[in-house]
Amino acid sequence: MKQTGGHMVLGGLFEAYGYHSAAWLQETAQDNAATDVDYFRQIIQQAEAGRLDFFFLADTPAARTENLDFWSRSPLYMNMLEPVTLLSALAGSTRHIGLGATASTSFYEPYNIARLFGSLDHISHGRAAWNVVTTANDYAARNFGLDRLPPRDRRYEKAAECLEVVQALWDTWEDDAFIFDRAGARMFDPEKFHVLDHAGEFFRVHGGLNMCRSPQGQPVIFQAGASETGREFAARTAEVVFGTGATLAQAQAFYTDLKGRMTRYGRTADSLKVLSGVSIVMGESREDARRKWAKWQESVPIEIGLMYLKTDLETDLSDLPLDEPVPEHRIPERSNFHQVYFEEIVGLIREGLTLRQVCRTYNRSKVIFYGTAGEVADQMEEWVGSGGSDGFMMALPVLPDSLTDVTQGIVPELQRRGLFRTEYEGRTLRENLGLARPVNRHVRKR
Ligand SMILES: Cc1cc2nc3c(=O)[nH]c(=O)nc-3n(C[C@H](O)[C@H](O)[C@H](O)COP(=O)(O)O)c2cc1C
Repeated sequence: MKQTGGHMVLGGLFEAYGYHSAAWLQETAQDNAATDVDYFRQIIQQAEAGRLDFFFLADTPAARTENLDFWSRSPLYMNMLEPVTLLSALAGSTRHIGLGATASTSFYEPYNIARLFGSLDHISHGRAAWNVVTTANDYAARNFGLDRLPPRDRRYEKAAECLEVVQALWDTWEDDAFIFDRAGARMFDPEKFHVLDHAGEFFRVHGGLNMCRSPQGQPVIFQAGASETGREFAARTAEVVFGTGATLAQAQAFYTDLKGRMTRYGRTADSLKVLSGVSIVMGESREDARRKWAKWQESVPIEIGLMYLKTDLETDLSDLPLDEPVPEHRIPERSNFHQVYFEEIVGLIREGLTLRQVCRTYNRSKVIFYGTAGEVADQMEEWVGSGGSDGFMMALPVLPDSLTDVTQGIVPELQRRGLFRTEYEGRTLRENLGLARPVNRHVRKR
């Protein structure tokens, strides 16, 4: 098996109620969970007790402003805390688990991002990670002075420049710049402070970060781009990538492709961890787990399913009869938002499913591991052992039950097999992931 510090990497993708759109409908769901820091504290402490590598929060800086009748029934991103703020609040109640969040390169200034994640790294004693995304919805664009998103390649050009500036700002100070020389009345060594003078296509920054270098040197860089441009960007810059292959063969192809691209940038394969995105659904048997999932899918109203198709296929199919196959000429020529979601729906349509079946089957999570703890662990072992991934980004469909399945079922099973840690190895997220601490560029240059 591929070794990552001796075991597979397990991260969790958390939404307040669980990421399945039926999660908030469950009787056990707490109404104000999305804005309740005490609720999140219990969840993250449970994740840490299970020795998960990191707790991850996705983000988009926008509420939906149209079709509110629909969004009121499937309220993704309509009510949430800003993720870096929430992680900063949770840092004090945890000691080991990594803290990852999304911030958009299309809308945030690099100076803001450098400060936010630099602060989180200090506050958490070295557990911060930034998920670099270009954001894929026009609602967000309209909150930041645009009518719509620029095309994907343009967004990635801006993302690349943004990341470059952020990382340069994180190297403003050398690690030992602050000397606290009381006798000489000098706090820092001015030779070890480096002003950035950046004038690029998208950003102009002349200055330095007003914060000493953080415990990890630089927070860990996450990425999830699936397109050609996204993959190239990840191969060059990312340290953790969320893979989106729907089958083991696709995951292996993605893994090989991405790690292969890294040599062009002089990077070694183990300086990037590929984590396959999977949903975990446990039951007393595989069939039992499948029934559980089907019940969640069916409890989502059909209008909501149509709305998801409209968003992710980037075209409205709601005029079509529900119980007939979708004509292929209704498939748009290309996607501008999430390519992987788009392709998944196109695949279902091409299989000849009726519109209703497409709605019932389609879910943004493409890979679902069903079964008992042993059966789910078998699938994880197979994927990691056969070069499909270095670990998993586990989407937890319904909280807290899905997390309990992981921490009390799957994790102990993986530990018994020697495939997952029983104690955190290091203090920082980098240490636990087996990633090197970046040397400050100014020191390296000397
Ligand atoms: C596990 C995972 C988490 C993601 N989190 C976010 C997010 O928080 N915000 C966002 O705008 N996009 C998010 N994305 C979308 C990706 O950043 C990316 O836009 C998408 O996979 C499409 O790839 P492309 O941009 O190369 O077309 C996520 C994707 C995955 C697989």
